[in-house]
Amino acid sequence: MPIQWFPGHMTTARKKAAETLARTDIVIEVLDARIPEASCNPMIRQLRDFRQRPCLKVLNKSDLADPLVTAAWLEFYNRQPGVKAVALSCKHPGEPGRIPALCRALAPHRNDPTKPLRMIIMGIPNVGKSTLMNALLKKRVAKVGDEPAITKSQQTLDLGKGMTLTDTPGLMWPRIEHDSDGYMLAASHAIGTNAVIEEEVATFLAGLLLERYGDLLSARYKCPVRGLDGASLIETIAARRGCRLKGGGLDIEKAALILLTDYRSGALGRISLETPETRATLLQAASAALSAPAAAPEAAPEPVSELE
Ligand code: G4P
Repeated sequence: MPIQWFPGHMTTARKKAAETLARTDIVIEVLDARIPEASCNPMIRQLRDFRQRPCLKVLNKSDLADPLVTAAWLEFYNRQPGVKAVALSCKHPGEPGRIPALCRALAPHRNDPTKPLRMIIMGIPNVGKSTLMNALLKKRVAKVGDEPAITKSQQTLDLGKGMTLTDTPGLMWPRIEHDSDGYMLAASHAIGTNAVIEEEVATFLAGLLLERYGDLLSARYKCPVRGLDGASLIETIAARRGCRLKGGGLDIEKAALILLTDYRSGALGRISLETPETRATLLQAASAALSAPAAAPEAAPEPVSELE
């Protein structure tokens, strides 16, 4: 089942963000380092392109992501015009402190006391925008929570040294184009749990992890995983962890949640669900599917009048 999630308050939030962007110099776009493109809201790109604002892409939660893949993503983004990318973890004190200097370099014209550097933090829910805001301000001004869409209104704060920072609520977009993006977002907890079936998401995640992180799965669940598919991996986890229903059958829902929690918390290890190469393959497949000629329509029956 394709996953879609666009709570009503986000339409208002989008409008407000577009207005604020007009009065801003730099967009700090926070992405989830484990799924940078799946967590990149195309609406933010449009708003940014429309206003021609440079962008600092922050690949946050890099403590949870595969470092080699993160390096490949940085190279990918740093080739884009008007973009600078940086990977960091808000869980590592000191790392967010690199941001002001990177922003300054992106807007050198805003460098005198009468022209403060105005930055706006944007991104989808749960990528760490509030945590980043608090780290930059060195105090708790924004609510942090592992439930998507916690921040519901904007606030602008003075960072000192001629810099201001506006945070925005998490912005989703009305239609997630690729089903796999919906699953990656749900697995990484950017999409509200009410909108998704955890078991389906876990089966998708299990399939992806089997392709690239079999060793981490074997180490975590202490079992061989070669030859398993997503569904049978979750059954194996249920058996290994003693997840049983009252009647004695395997509790697949519980095992699915174990896998999701282990991925989300980093207990499985440092994992990236997409790479620049897998993204390129996905986009090629999608555009090939779009340009494939539609199946020839069945010959329409001739109008009765002409048969007579
Ligand atoms: P948002 O504003 O974009 O919606 O995200 P928010 O800052 O509320 O962060 C969502 C969750 O992500 C929080 O988890 C936060 O601690 C965590 N987080 C933020 N940045 C990082 C990071 O760089 N690495 C890791 N591993 N986690 C990060 P939480 O469960 O509510 O809080 P906590 O128990 O982790 O503190």
